[in-house]
Amino acid sequence: MTPTSTEALRDLVARNLVTARERTELLTGSVDDGDLVRQHSPLMSPLVWDLAHVANQEELWLLREVGGREPMHPEIDPLYDAFEHPRAERPTLPLLPPAEARAYAHEVRGRVLDLVDAATFTGTRLLTSAFAFGMIAQHEQQHDETMLITHQLRKGPAVLTAPPPAAPPADALSLPREVLIPGGPFTMGTSTEPWALDNERPAHTVTVPAFYLDTTPVTNAAYAGFIADGGYDDRRWWSPAGWDHRQRAGLTAPMYWRREGGGWVRTRFGVTEQVPPAEPAMHVCWYEAQAYAVWAGRRLPTEAEWEKAARYDPATGRSRRFPWGDEDPAPDRANLGQRHLQPAPAGSYPRGASPAGARQLVGDVWEWTASDFLPYPGFTAWPYPEYSEVFFGGAYKTLRGGAFGVDPVACRGTFRNWDYPIRRQIFAGFRTARDAEPAVPGAGASR
Ligand SMILES: [Fe+2]
Repeated sequence: MTPTSTEALRDLVARNLVTARERTELLTGSVDDGDLVRQHSPLMSPLVWDLAHVANQEELWLLREVGGREPMHPEIDPLYDAFEHPRAERPTLPLLPPAEARAYAHEVRGRVLDLVDAATFTGTRLLTSAFAFGMIAQHEQQHDETMLITHQLRKGPAVLTAPPPAAPPADALSLPREVLIPGGPFTMGTSTEPWALDNERPAHTVTVPAFYLDTTPVTNAAYAGFIADGGYDDRRWWSPAGWDHRQRAGLTAPMYWRREGGGWVRTRFGVTEQVPPAEPAMHVCWYEAQAYAVWAGRRLPTEAEWEKAARYDPATGRSRRFPWGDEDPAPDRANLGQRHLQPAPAGSYPRGASPAGARQLVGDVWEWTASDFLPYPGFTAWPYPEYSEVFFGGAYKTLRGGAFGVDPVACRGTFRNWDYPIRRQIFAGFRTARDAEPAVPGAGASR
């Protein structure tokens, strides 16, 4: 929760900026300069681009916009403008070499911390509750997630290590398959969360009929059942666009999976290992998630359903910040912050459960929803239209909940992510849903 006293806000800002930079330094310091400037996939930027881009955005928003300083290196601005240069062409640009990119990031950060020391966080909307600082901490952490995706795409020996998540609790195997989310109105989005981004605003009432939602994300074991049942070869389960994509892309299993012996292995940050059956499935695109859901006799939840399951508290009628309540994420509630480099087994984190008993809605894997990425009623772009507004429409599907690679500063019950329905390199899985009431009066139970 964002504090109100100036001193506490300065602490919060500095802490989040430092945490982000430590992660950035680990992700860019664990590979050599050759790996930093190389493009590991046309889907991603060279890591050295992310590094200088993070610094450039920090300079633009905090030193120039908030601090009123002159540009440090105006000639490099266009190189690091994500809208001027798509990822595929970034390796051809005259980017700052690694040592210069690091020096630039270090210089910007030093000046920003001086600015934080003197800031009073009043006067303009950007300064109120330290929003611009929170936005920049989130931006760097979002790029840390992007850089972690690049690490996963990178070929070569492992350079990142982290302890595995704890074993799941004793009740993980006896949880009900699904939970009932009551029908009726609830408050979606927020008008009060100080560091919420424009697409999460404003709070508005949405009526969601009762529905059932999987207690946990769909596991690798369950997903392997779909494969074993010929799910990838049966067009009945696929939408026309999904089937078309499945054919053209030659999809037969999640990205990074390979058959070995009688089972499946995967590569994860440079290590090849058995696919863990109890872990949430990951690296499937929206079309695969949707096909699985249809095969299972179910469907993907809408974005409103997901948020209601994650935030609505039937006891008070209020929408909370997180499934467990209003307190910030902690290590015993959700798998966030790159503490582990994989999702935790399904059924983990009982202390992070929602009021209905759903687990792992926040953390572990992003969850594809059925919904297109659209503005909420009353949306206004702020502080710049390129954050969300230019992406609204039918081209992108929303994802919710954050993944193990997401930092708590960029994760909320209201936080919205989006991507193309063909994307698989992101840390995305899904869970399924079904209507609780028959769609046609008198038609009986829906399954
Ligand atoms: Fe960015």
